[in-house]
Amino acid sequence: MQTTEFIWFNGKFVPWDDAKVHVLTHALHYASGTFEGLRFYQTDDGSSAIFRLVEHVDRLLYSAQALHMALPYSKQQICDAIVETVARNNITSGYLRPLVFYGYQKMGVNPIGNPVDMIIACWPWGAYHAAEELDVKVSQYIRLHPKSTVIDAKLSANYINCILPLLEIQGTHYHEVLLLDHDHYVSEGSSVNFFMVKNGVIYTPTLSNVLPGITRDFILILAKKLGYQVLETQITLAEVYAADEAFFSGTAGEITPIRSLDDKLINGGGAGPISLKLKAAYQDVVHGRDKTFSSYLTYVKLENQQHL
Ligand SMILES: Cc1ncc(COP(=O)(O)O)c(C=O)c1O
Repeated sequence: MQTTEFIWFNGKFVPWDDAKVHVLTHALHYASGTFEGLRFYQTDDGSSAIFRLVEHVDRLLYSAQALHMALPYSKQQICDAIVETVARNNITSGYLRPLVFYGYQKMGVNPIGNPVDMIIACWPWGAYHAAEELDVKVSQYIRLHPKSTVIDAKLSANYINCILPLLEIQGTHYHEVLLLDHDHYVSEGSSVNFFMVKNGVIYTPTLSNVLPGITRDFILILAKKLGYQVLETQITLAEVYAADEAFFSGTAGEITPIRSLDDKLINGGGAGPISLKLKAAYQDVVHGRDKTFSSYLTYVKLENQQHL
């Protein structure tokens, strides 16, 4: 991976290679952590802007609360630290990874008694998916049951439900997986929300069994602004096979059309017009070209900006 100079670690900037933890860190053993993924983009005036910073921090705080973490930072302090991480590293576009986790003090499954540690890293990161249009397989695993975990929190431990499906397709021609839920309805991909289009209407699964994606939420707003009808509903696999278009959304993955599902071509195997329109509109927003949504961007003054 590409690295940057500094990682924010418990309130201080440390050189990238020095951001280390003890091997008996609780989260390393029991995945007792929560994280966020944000993207920041170079806007057309040359400055850098983080997309939906506050929403990501809100979700991080919600997830930390699910883990009973007493975070020693306010929401504003976390927002400021994220902005400063970009500024200190002087990169205009990339990905941000705040992580809060139970640290090193005592062993045993119950995390209470361990310190709550936090890091914020950022690095340049291009396209997340291996292709511009994805071949997708329905996973043999189902989405975690909503009563087995806090399903709407971005908990590290929940990611076993993403890792195993991805390992399932490792070495095949599939790029991504689609998980069904315990009732056999379509849920989401390994780290992306699912959308499909039929007869000009955009459909996405309800929030009952998906991560409440911040990109998903924005697509609902954007699609309505572009004049589309959008329905949050239960979707069956048969409906996806018969869809006119389908795509995934996520901070890392952005908007990525689905080419095929279980080797059945969608839209004849090419990205559909509505998917492409949303994808282009999304890029306009995150790059600051669509001023209607400028309140969704947090501009960052890079430390060496005056020298650029
Ligand atoms: C399981 C899962 N679903 C959906 C998403 C998309 O969420 P967002 O748009 O907030 O990145 C992610 C990524 O965070 C994820 O990990």
